[in-house]
Amino acid sequence: MSIKDTIMSIFPEESSLPSEVQLKEINQRQYLAGGRLREWKGPVQDVLSPVCLKTKNGAARKKIGSYPLCTEKESEEVLQAAVAAWDCGRGEWPCMGLEKRIRCIEDFAFKMKEKREIVVNLIMWEIGKTRKDSEKEFDRTLQYIYDTIEAVKDMDRASSRFSIEEGIIAQIRRAPLGVVLCMGPYNYPLNETYTTLIPALIMGNTAIFKPPKYGVLLHQPLLEAFAECFPKGVVNTIYGEGTKIIPPIMASGKVDVLAFIGSSKVADILKHQHPQPHRLRSILGLGAKNAGIVLADADMELAVKECVTGSLSYNGQRCTALKILFVHKSRIDEFLTMFTAELLKLKCGMPWDADVALTPLPEGGKCEYLDSVVKDATALGAKIINADGGVFNNTFFYPALLYPVNEKMRAYHEEQFGPVIPVASFENIEEPLNYVVDSAFGQQLSIFGTDPDCISDLIDPLVNQVCRLNINSQCQRGPDVFPFTGRKDSAEGTLSVSDALRCFAIRTLVAAKSSDVNKKILTGMVRERKSSFLSTDFIF
Ligand code: G3H
Repeated sequence: MSIKDTIMSIFPEESSLPSEVQLKEINQRQYLAGGRLREWKGPVQDVLSPVCLKTKNGAARKKIGSYPLCTEKESEEVLQAAVAAWDCGRGEWPCMGLEKRIRCIEDFAFKMKEKREIVVNLIMWEIGKTRKDSEKEFDRTLQYIYDTIEAVKDMDRASSRFSIEEGIIAQIRRAPLGVVLCMGPYNYPLNETYTTLIPALIMGNTAIFKPPKYGVLLHQPLLEAFAECFPKGVVNTIYGEGTKIIPPIMASGKVDVLAFIGSSKVADILKHQHPQPHRLRSILGLGAKNAGIVLADADMELAVKECVTGSLSYNGQRCTALKILFVHKSRIDEFLTMFTAELLKLKCGMPWDADVALTPLPEGGKCEYLDSVVKDATALGAKIINADGGVFNNTFFYPALLYPVNEKMRAYHEEQFGPVIPVASFENIEEPLNYVVDSAFGQQLSIFGTDPDCISDLIDPLVNQVCRLNINSQCQRGPDVFPFTGRKDSAEGTLSVSDALRCFAIRTLVAAKSSDVNKKILTGMVRERKSSFLSTDFIF
């Protein structure tokens, strides 16, 4: 069977679905506000899976459920709940000792673990991620929670002492900031929501979280756990059209931290909605167009392997994906031949199929968009190198390896966020270097080569352009203890297990002149455990 034939008949019949992935529609009618799951009686949004099923009239996206289309009224309600739980910093949660907050997070992690199977199944159905990667997303998120608990204990231990400088005694800690609005992206709907939500909570903030447009229902099995594990109003959720429900929240001026992973265009709009932007702290993970540079002396087998996974894992829908490749002219034919051969080995299918690598795409109109990027490039002189590259059927798009691309083409500039692999060749290293300098983005870069002199000549200019330089490997966020950030339009703030804790807190100190009276007051307060902030307790 040709690739085209495979793609044209890729979608299964309902009756052939494996029993373990069969899903009863989830028609969510609840949102979490002020510690209670509130019943929603208004309009709803149907959730269509990227997975299509064969019907008499051709393949159609399977409906897997629906969720509330909340209005400004519910925006106001969840905001008020989060503001009340913060209570100007006097709420139960921000004033609770860290040890108690950790216990709440541990309880939540325990309950979350029990939901692994349903959440993994929903990730597959809602965003088309392979089973292996969906499981990885769940496990990595849980591990992130455990690591965050250890990191916050470490941070607390380091501040559980007094400093004495220039006759002033002080205890310096990190205190919460207030109300946090968390919005994650569709490609890591669980992980990238929780990697901001959990640190924000553990530091004592209260939160509202809005799931991304795709990847909403997978949060539903965890709603009860949120309601049960945290005091009322500490975690609140809202669903619906972002353009309707988020502006009132931002325009209220009551959000202290915006944690948003998505496009810089949307981030700018959200920030400008805040009436006092200087009061808003923003933690943003934005776009990227990470380049891979294959030098003349590269180990080609390794470079191709990394470039294939770098550009195509989760169908290229990762902010860290390699989104353009520059290959030295002397090796370009070899590179394209080997890349095409590797691409042929990638199995196309449904997320739960064994060893599947390429799966349907969740965004409406995405295949048509990718097709237009490919057509623009071919009209301007690029060729589709691989057989049947760019063939699509409904939500499934077969990868297109494009060569040679140049600055006139959209594929050269646009963040395609999908299975299109633009390749350019170069003779002079200044060509890819100029690309990186001129790019609006500044997240990561991969260099493939074997000569330490050549590589080191590139490191110094490039580390001032991007925030992670990968040698002989694809770009990636992990390990999660490493800093994850970007320059230019790619990010604001730095995330990692320990950095995230700093993002959601501010250094605050209690200070007193070292007089006898003050020493007596401080000693008394600490000895009798009168304050949660002022304490020398050591959390084991
Ligand atoms: O989409 C952006 C993610 O943070 C990338 O994470 O490199 O682990 O896939 P990853």
